[in-house]
Amino acid sequence: SQNRVYIKNGHIVNHDKSFKADIYIEDGIIKFVGPATDINVPGGVRIVDAANKLVIPGGIDPHTHMQLKFGGCVAVDDFYHGTKAAVAGGTTTIIDFVLPEKGESLVEAYDKWRAWADPKVCCDYAFHVGITWWSKSVSEEMKIMCEELGVNSFKMFMAYKGLYQLNDSELLEAFERIRSLNAVAQVHAENGDIIAKNVQKLLSAGVTGPEGHELSRQEEVEAEAVNRACILAHQVDCPLYVVHVMSKSAGIELARARRRYKNRGIYGETLAAALGSDGTNYYHQCFQHAAAHVLSPPLRPDPTTPAFMMNLLANDDLQTTGSDNCTFNKEHKELGKSDFTKIPNGVNGVEDRMSIVWEKGVHAGLLDPCRFVAVTSTNAAKIFNLFPQKGRIAVGSDADIVIWNPNATRTISKETHHHACDFNIFEGMVCHGVPEMVLVRGRICVEDGTVRVAEGYGRFVNTPTRPPYLYDVLEGKVQANEEHNGEEHDEHLNGGLKKLDLG
Ligand code: URP
Ligand code: ZN
Ligand code: ZN
Ligand code: ZN
Repeated sequence: SQNRVYIKNGHIVNHDKSFKADIYIEDGIIKFVGPATDINVPGGVRIVDAANKLVIPGGIDPHTHMQLKFGGCVAVDDFYHGTKAAVAGGTTTIIDFVLPEKGESLVEAYDKWRAWADPKVCCDYAFHVGITWWSKSVSEEMKIMCEELGVNSFKMFMAYKGLYQLNDSELLEAFERIRSLNAVAQVHAENGDIIAKNVQKLLSAGVTGPEGHELSRQEEVEAEAVNRACILAHQVDCPLYVVHVMSKSAGIELARARRRYKNRGIYGETLAAALGSDGTNYYHQCFQHAAAHVLSPPLRPDPTTPAFMMNLLANDDLQTTGSDNCTFNKEHKELGKSDFTKIPNGVNGVEDRMSIVWEKGVHAGLLDPCRFVAVTSTNAAKIFNLFPQKGRIAVGSDADIVIWNPNATRTISKETHHHACDFNIFEGMVCHGVPEMVLVRGRICVEDGTVRVAEGYGRFVNTPTRPPYLYDVLEGKVQANEEHNGEEHDEHLNGGLKKLDLG
């Protein structure tokens, strides 16, 4: 039956160790992890043989925008297609963003988003809430979000001038409020004032193509905002998670802040797009190809960027990988044909994120499998307080499990992906690491190359608030209390890479 599954002979990989053990699942929960000799498997249970495969916690994508309205378009991956694509790729939880319009009540926006998502989601999900404008009423509603609606993270925009951008006073007030609520602050770190000036200069000079998007917001525009956000948050002792760190310069600023503040309360995310693609695509002769890669902050034309970002992940200068999945079709991207500022921002990634991180990380020798689990699942669960319900294979955790074949390969293509969109920025990439079976809360959703999801099966998961910095405390506690269940890694080798020397 679907709700009782026994996975035998697999090699389990958690963020802190890997070991051989069998797993028994009932009613969506992991009931047993251990040697076959310690359990009598009841009759009528579905037996899955995971010999020579890894058994890993389902991926958590902490950054998606399903069916987002952006510049008159709506992202084509809705909560059904977007979560179906997620599950197909081994991601079993997404955290999407409620983005209120300017002047809109947070609670009303939240209710609207829940009504869109609940009937459609194929996997579990949670919400971050965007603080897209600032007022006393917004500040008051943030408390309701945390105390009644299961939200513990708020995203502020330092870019999108005239739309969502907050100034430094507003950012400080928002950070203070978030600190007092025991929530986590997120920032979109780009200097919107500089971008607005550069856009005007470029358009007047006749630069209207997709390359203008990156030229208007080069690395230091991102790096300045990362540095400023870290300092502003530190001034009011607020934990900060910088979303979509896209450049070497921004990554270095984040690493510097982590060193200054002793790794407490500063976290960073990079994107599948930044690891598996680069900004040379903005110079592609075909407009559609170039425009498909437009997102903010942009990909960088420096082709050494992807490996650099992977190195930051390997060395804990960055903690998580998201997708920022926000897909538009060619007809939508076409709106920016004669003006790059009109290209709707966003790329795919929710389906391919796990494969990209495996291929460019583990297969390339830069990450070990435990660190792969940490940066694709466990760290997001810890930072957003879903751990250990999510992000871990252990008794009592949700049975969100991927049977991962590290030796098989698949070729990414828009012809075979599960997205609703007509382009894939990773087209043609051959990736080692295939999610051969995916269980979402015990339900087998991917098997034998077939994806069988159930629309509306996913549940909203509350992300409760908690005192700041528990991420780090939790790390120590969990390791101290860990029962030993098999062989352990000696150490986490990062392909011999050195941690950034910031002199
Ligand atoms: O280009 C992007 N990232 N689109 C989605 C909105 C955002 O800033 O995350
Ligand atoms: Zn953003
Ligand atoms: Zn985003
Ligand atoms: Zn390891």
